[in-house]
Amino acid sequence: MASGTFADAGADLELVGIQKRFPGFTAIEHLDLSIPAGSFFALLGPSGCGKTTTLRLVAGLEEPTAGSILIGGTDVTQQKAFQRPVNTVFQSYALFPHMTVLENVAFGLRRRKIADPVGKAHEALRLVELDHLAARKPQQLSGGQQQRVALARAIVNKPALLLLDEPLGALDLKLRRQMQLELKTIQEEVGLTFLHVTHDQEEAMTMADTIAVMNKGRIEQMGAPEVLYELPKTAFVANFLGQSNLFTGPVIGSTSTSITVDVAGHRVIVPADRAHRHAGEVTIGVRPEKMWLHRKAPAEAADRNIMGPGRVIDVSFSGVSTQYLVAVPYIGTLIVFAQNMAFGPVADVGDEVWLDWHVEHGFGLEDEPVPGAGPRFAADTDTRSIAAQRRESLVTELEEA
Ligand SMILES: Nc1ncnc2c1ncn2[C@@H]1O[C@H](COP(=O)(O)OP(=O)(O)OP(=O)(O)O)[C@@H](O)[C@H]1O
Ligand SMILES: [Mg+2]
Repeated sequence: MASGTFADAGADLELVGIQKRFPGFTAIEHLDLSIPAGSFFALLGPSGCGKTTTLRLVAGLEEPTAGSILIGGTDVTQQKAFQRPVNTVFQSYALFPHMTVLENVAFGLRRRKIADPVGKAHEALRLVELDHLAARKPQQLSGGQQQRVALARAIVNKPALLLLDEPLGALDLKLRRQMQLELKTIQEEVGLTFLHVTHDQEEAMTMADTIAVMNKGRIEQMGAPEVLYELPKTAFVANFLGQSNLFTGPVIGSTSTSITVDVAGHRVIVPADRAHRHAGEVTIGVRPEKMWLHRKAPAEAADRNIMGPGRVIDVSFSGVSTQYLVAVPYIGTLIVFAQNMAFGPVADVGDEVWLDWHVEHGFGLEDEPVPGAGPRFAADTDTRSIAAQRRESLVTELEEA
């Protein structure tokens, strides 16, 4: 498809064996990705993992060292950027300062001699709820409004494939949440293929049909948001998409329906269909909100895993829930989220507590356990600091909102 035509529908995007080397640095090691037409696809990963590089390769602004790129089944690897049926909203958007909002949006249409540029520009501005500001200049708009103009300018061209590089980064938390829903609605209305890049896990989970979690130039796991959250394959995914309590130990028993793992003397059962590995040393986990805190040792039950006793070493209140850090001897520090159903915490710092969770809530990773790591798997410091920073900034933003 030539760039001068409007797309009636989204196109498939396929990346086959993509590698990208910069002088002295390999940004993308080996990337295979297949995005079906009409989907809202999120590429999620920490800063520097290669997200923008991937988008620039698709847009034709960067040439792959190896591999090929197909859009709608056509190999576009050799095509110039302007020949590809792609539009990009960049991480740092730039509007023409001397043009009105309307002219900014109509610009691409005029250049490509598309009929009725003004009518179409108004329509795109209505989609982002900015038509009433059509006559203003960009500098008379807030940062968030400018970002929405940049979105309208990309959408108006009806590209078969729209690339969005952190397009909501300049917005405050409330507006970002609102625009996330709007963007999703726009995508459903126009039926185009959206490839959305973000390092915000909540944003990816709210908007995307499919998420690919990227780490150090590779896709760690790809799937529906619920599947990634419920059944992470790797320690990185388990900690980047939300938080997890991970444990390592040998499998000491297995049946057709479950495996039993010895975690520093605690027998922990994981359903076989939720565990990626069924023998040898394994890493297993459970989400903090799936754990219960008890002041007395809970009675043994076949359908629950129990850990403890441990000691509460930190309690932090965050409105909807309270986070407890519990140090369990020989295992390490576990995180528990408890919904604030009662006034005041269920346990205080220094209290002796037990933890338990439903067997069906556990999961087992595909990762090789890290040799020499203790029974409580320590997330690599990068991952942990990203998750911690993210939480802190969200809390600050929410307090300010
Ligand atoms: N032109 C270049 N030359 C050398 N290295 C580069 C170049 N462009 C990007 N890189 C490196 O490639 C890696 C991936 O960069 P990229 O911009 O794709 O990251 P990102 O995932 O978009 O990060 P962020 O979330 O911070 O935007 C980084 O380590 C970066 O320093
Ligand atoms: Mg980037």
